[in-house]
Amino acid sequence: MTSPPYVGLIDYHDQHKYVYELLGLEDRSGFEIGAAKNGSSQKAKKTYQEAIAEVFRNALKSMPKGGRLIVVAGDRHELYGEIAELCGVKVEAVLQRHVNRRTGRRSSEFFESVFIWRKA
Ligand SMILES: C[S@@+](CC[C@H](N)C(=O)[O-])C[C@H]1O[C@@H](n2cnc3c(N)ncnc32)[C@H](O)[C@@H]1O
Repeated sequence: MTSPPYVGLIDYHDQHKYVYELLGLEDRSGFEIGAAKNGSSQKAKKTYQEAIAEVFRNALKSMPKGGRLIVVAGDRHELYGEIAELCGVKVEAVLQRHVNRRTGRRSSEFFESVFIWRKA
C-alpha cells in the first residue's frame, strides 16, 4: 500500500532539505519522481508514468500472484489507468475517498482515488 508522489505538484527534497542537511544525507533530488520543478507537461506526465510504473513493477516482483497493490493518489491528470497497464496488473476496484479530515481545515470538496490492483 502506498501513496506515491504526484506529478508536478510538490518538490519533496526542497521541502525536507533541512532534514537532509541535519542528517548529512546525500542530495538525490535528481531521482525524485514527479518533482514540481519538472512541471506537468505531456512529456513530464509520460516520464512520471514510466518512472512510477517501474517502481511498481519492481515491488510486484516480490509479491505473490494474486497479491494486492493498493495505491492512494489524487489522479486529476488521469494517469493511473495507463500506469496499471504498464505494470500488467488486474484492476480490481477504484474507490473514491472523500478527503475532508486531513487537517480539519479543508472546506472544498476533494476526492482522491484508491486503486486496488492485483498481480496477474
Ligand atoms: C505522497 S508522499 C508519501 C510518503 C509516504 N508514503 C507516506 O505515506 O508518508 C510521496 C513520497 O515519495 C517520495 N519519492 C519521490 N521520488 C522518489 C524516488 N525516486 N524514490 C523514493 N521515494 C521517492 C517523496 O520524497 C515522498 O516522500
